[in-house]
Amino acid sequence: MATRNKIQPSLMIALPKGRMASQTLDLLIAAGIPTPNGDVGRKLVIEAAGENGSETKNLRYILAKPSDVPTYVEYGAADVGVCGLDTLRESGRNVYEPLLLPFGRCHLSLCAPAERPNTPLRYESMPRVATKYPALTADFFRRRGVNAEIIALHGSVELGPLVGLADLIVDLVETGGTLRANGLVEIRTIMESQAVLIVNRAAYRLKAAVIDSLIARLRRVI
Ligand code: PRP
Repeated sequence: MATRNKIQPSLMIALPKGRMASQTLDLLIAAGIPTPNGDVGRKLVIEAAGENGSETKNLRYILAKPSDVPTYVEYGAADVGVCGLDTLRESGRNVYEPLLLPFGRCHLSLCAPAERPNTPLRYESMPRVATKYPALTADFFRRRGVNAEIIALHGSVELGPLVGLADLIVDLVETGGTLRANGLVEIRTIMESQAVLIVNRAAYRLKAAVIDSLIARLRRVI
């Protein structure tokens, strides 16, 4: 049975590296869940630290690229993970989504150069669209009956229209600063996003008590 600061049986949690890492750790700490202690350097699998700083063998973390978190969780390499809804939907991974988390809020938008005429999408003729979200972008255009050429990129998508690679982009907008700095404007919102706790479906049945306890503790502080 789970006690206040001890989680049993062993649990593997996939944390996203980058933007959401510190907010995820802050939330776990606020919820009283043991987290890695101090600087983890380049280590990718980390034991959580217990109350006296010793490692707790029953709770471990992996640090993964955010877009890989749903994969680790669907395959059960991690029992639980944190990622953005945008990343999860793009991945198409089948996981349990018990809890939205109060950070990482942004939206996925179709954007264009500010000077480009804002014609209805159905009049677009095979636009070239650069994005880190090829599946969601293809789905967005398919549902509207528009043929589009999707150009998959891995970052700095806003560069696409500036150098003639693409007519439009689909990307995350948080403050809007990157769009403004590059003369782009949003023309359609595709989805709202925020961080979400995801759980492997089999683990949720086999480790129900410990995962329910984790979710309950997080719920109390959000
Ligand atoms: C994200 C996103 C936008 C930017 C939006 O990129 O893809 O480029 O942040 O944020 P803003 O609206 O607050 O300006 P990220 O910083 O993760 O880097 P990347 O483009 O290299 O993936």
